[in-house]
Amino acid sequence: MSTERVKTILVTGGAGFIGSNFIRQIIDENVNIINLDKLTYAGNLSNLKDIENKSNYKFIQGDICSQDLVSFILKEYKIDYLINFAAESHVDRSILDSSPFYSTNVLGTLNLMDCARENGIERYLQVSTDEVYGSLGKEGKFKETTPVSPNSPYSASKTAADQAVLAYNHTFDFPAVITRCSNNYGAFQFPEKLIPLVINNAISSKSIPVYGTGENIRDWIHVEDHCRGIYSVLMNGKVGEVYNIGGESEVTNIELVKMILEFLGKPESLIQFVKDRPGHDMRYAIDITKISSELNWTPEYNFKDGLEKTIQWYLDNTDWLENIISGDYKDYYKQQYSIDK
Ligand code: NAD
Ligand code: TYD
Repeated sequence: MSTERVKTILVTGGAGFIGSNFIRQIIDENVNIINLDKLTYAGNLSNLKDIENKSNYKFIQGDICSQDLVSFILKEYKIDYLINFAAESHVDRSILDSSPFYSTNVLGTLNLMDCARENGIERYLQVSTDEVYGSLGKEGKFKETTPVSPNSPYSASKTAADQAVLAYNHTFDFPAVITRCSNNYGAFQFPEKLIPLVINNAISSKSIPVYGTGENIRDWIHVEDHCRGIYSVLMNGKVGEVYNIGGESEVTNIELVKMILEFLGKPESLIQFVKDRPGHDMRYAIDITKISSELNWTPEYNFKDGLEKTIQWYLDNTDWLENIISGDYKDYYKQQYSIDK
């Protein structure tokens, strides 16, 4: 019989979109999970309703910037692995007000690493984004060796955090790995991001704001594929390394909006071209050679199937959506789109 102690993972930001999908994906593994989340507008405990009573899961409300709280959790629960999902994650909000992006994404990351160094952990995984590489023209893809060149306040804050993680690894032998993923979609995504925003507006026949010409390209990945990639990097990635994770599904925004409208049987006349996002990145595309050859990870979802499954999830979970689009969301929508929704 194995006498090895069950590992305990501290997941920060686990009440958000990707973190909650990650926790659900690994909850039946032989691990304990502590979820530390501040519950900002994007954090939602109903994302984890189905698993909240599991004996290997515990939720703690709090800020990753709190040294006392993070140190207490690391000691009290004898944390082995820390995965940092916690962030301010929306580009448009970073254009409206960037300050929370720098406190959570940069100072929060530094605090987690300082506390983890003091308490000694086996591995730290920083969940990052392909947006740190900037924007591509028509050709080429982002590799791990592509120089970082962020363009938005959001991506600049994620880049600062990534650079700090690499510096801690270099200077202190801090046992960190970084994943950089492309645009996620799937269940429980907050409807400020393109796919759930379009689904939500289309369901209620509201106009759909497409920035600029709609020709910008994103490389979409189903959130469950991303989460499998993160787990595989956590377990088998090399310390000090960056791993890109991507869906190999490049689509223009306008094509994507039309796919959703077609699935829902809604008219293209709902599309409204609006003023472009300032500094709007043109194209993202990820080269997955490293993670697929070293860790044998590839995306499993085909984009069309994953998108249809996601649309169906939103149709089946109108209560979840209704709860979110009240209050704060309405104010944000009005400010961002200058439209009364
Ligand atoms: P999200 O906005 O849905 O969730 C973020 C979570 O972090 C929320 O639950 C929020 O309450 C929590 N949080 C925010 N500030 C906090 C703080 N100071 N202390 C503790 N918790 C805090 O974001 P998401 O889409 O799930 O993204 C998760 C991570 O993945 C982020 O780091 C993001 O940069 C990265 N990422 C996202 C995408 C994407 O397409 N969504 C793609 C690549 C990488
Ligand atoms: P988003 O989901 O915000 O992700 P990111 O900016 O991190 O890539 O946006 C995806 C794409 O959709 C991006 O090119 C901006 C565009 N977009 C719109 O055209 N209209 C919208 O209302 C939103 C939110 C995004």
